[in-house]
Parts: sequence; C-alpha cells; structure tokens
Amino acid sequence: MKVELRNVTKAFGTNRVLDDVSFEAEFAHVLALIGPSGGGKSTLLRLLAGLDRPDSGTILVDGIALERSEESLRLYRRTIGTVFQAYNLFPHLSARDNVVLPLVEVHGLSKAAAAARADDVLQRFQLIAHADKQPGLLSGGQRQRVAIARALAIEPKFLLLDEPTSALDPEMTAEVLDVIAELRTLGQPIILVTHEMGFARQSADLVAFVADGGIRECAPAGTFFSNPTTPETRKFLEKILKY
Ligand SMILES: Nc1ncnc2c1ncn2[C@@H]1O[C@H](COP(=O)(O)OP(=O)(O)O)[C@@H](O)[C@H]1O
Ligand SMILES: [Mg+2]
Repeated sequence: MKVELRNVTKAFGTNRVLDDVSFEAEFAHVLALIGPSGGGKSTLLRLLAGLDRPDSGTILVDGIALERSEESLRLYRRTIGTVFQAYNLFPHLSARDNVVLPLVEVHGLSKAAAAARADDVLQRFQLIAHADKQPGLLSGGQRQRVAIARALAIEPKFLLLDEPTSALDPEMTAEVLDVIAELRTLGQPIILVTHEMGFARQSADLVAFVADGGIRECAPAGTFFSNPTTPETRKFLEKILKY
C-alpha cells in the first residue's frame, strides 16, 4: 500500500505537531512509526484513520486523496481497522459481541453472518474458548487480541495500530506481537506505532521517525537501525537502545 502526505499541517493552538509535512511511503506489509513521546505519532495515525482532518494539506492513501467532508470520512473509516493502546473494548459485551457489534451496526451484516464471522476470527486468534467472556475476565494480551480480531473482522483495507502493546507485560506483549507478525504473513497491510524496536526491526518493511513537527527519516528497517542518517534519529536510537 502507499500513503502520501502533501504539505500536511496539524496544530493544536500554537503547537505545530505536523508542520508542512510531505512524505511518501510505499510498502507491502508493515510501516512502523517510532519516535519520542509527544512527537506526533498518534496525531499522524488519527489523520490516516480519518478520525481527524489536517489544518491544511492533503493525505492520499493508495493514490486517493481523503476528502474533508464528514460523510466521506465516515465511509473511509469503515474501510480501516483501528486498534489503540488499551480500553478498546466495550466492557459490558462479551468478546464475541465486541466483534459482532460493528459488523451489524456499521457494516450492515445480519446477526447470524456477523456471529459466524466473529467466531471465525476468534478461532483464528485462539480466542474461541473466551468468546463468551467479558473483557474484564480476559488478560490484557487476550483483550488486545480481541481488539485486533475485531478490527480484522471488518475485512479492512489496512490496519492502524497505536502502541497496541504498551499497556502489556512482556509475555503478553510477545503474544500480541506474534499475532501482528502472523497478520503480516497473511498480507494484511499494517501501520503501527510502536516502542518495540526489536519488533520494528524484524517485521517492518519501512520505519519512519516522527518528531519535531514531522517525519525526520523513513527507511527500510535494516537500514534505519544500522545506518540512521539524521542526527535526531541517531540520538533517539542511542538513547532507547542503550539498555
Ligand atoms: N487533542 C489534542 N489537543 C491538544 N493537544 C494535543 C491533542 N492531541 C495531541 N496533542 C499534542 O500534540 C503533540 C503530539 O501528540 P501525539 O500525537 O499524541 O504524540 P505521540 O503519539 O508521538 O506521543 C503533543 O504535544 C500533544 O500534547
Ligand atoms: Mg501516541
């Protein structure tokens, strides 16, 4: 898939989080966004998700510019699966019903068809034994896997994952990263914000460094980590890879 930003600016008050950013990335499987906290990764992801609009500039996905009208953004959002850091699931619904709800309410499937598709994805993620449990009865890793299953059930063009493992302990992190790695092999395009550098290095086609108002560097994962070109990227990697 291909994402392109043309002169995109997004500010909150005087804070220009994305300042006239032009950028193009074409990748088969995974684009990883990394960078310091507050650098604008989530802001960029929300723009790509059609949850927010840039103040100026254009975003293109697979060559098609996102329109600004709420109606067209609503249709666009239906084609994307999104998973955020935590608290994604409706707490009062079972895992199955969490997957079923958007299929019925947003995508117009019958209840029977939605339930069948929900069981199919829950099976695929080894969650079928937990289908009737509410999120409170699941581990953090299982909850995020249900959230990913739900995002995938709508058969999205691509998935947007914003730090899907940052609220998890190492074992659960591995469990969720395994699922993402598996999606990669299934050819599901993914744009992922992550602090898991090992995972980014191993699984991303492209890594983009988001900081100081823009995308400072974007390169294939191998090159990005072995030979970062901008001083900002080098400094960031030195800092986080020190321990
Ligand atoms: N809705 C908002 N209102 C005001 N400021 C915001 C909002 N969302 C993000 N910001 C600010 O934009 C900057 C980038 O935030 P964010 O995109 O969340 O960074 P990251 O995900 O890289 O940590 C931060 O300074 C943050 O405080
Ligand atoms: Mg963020």
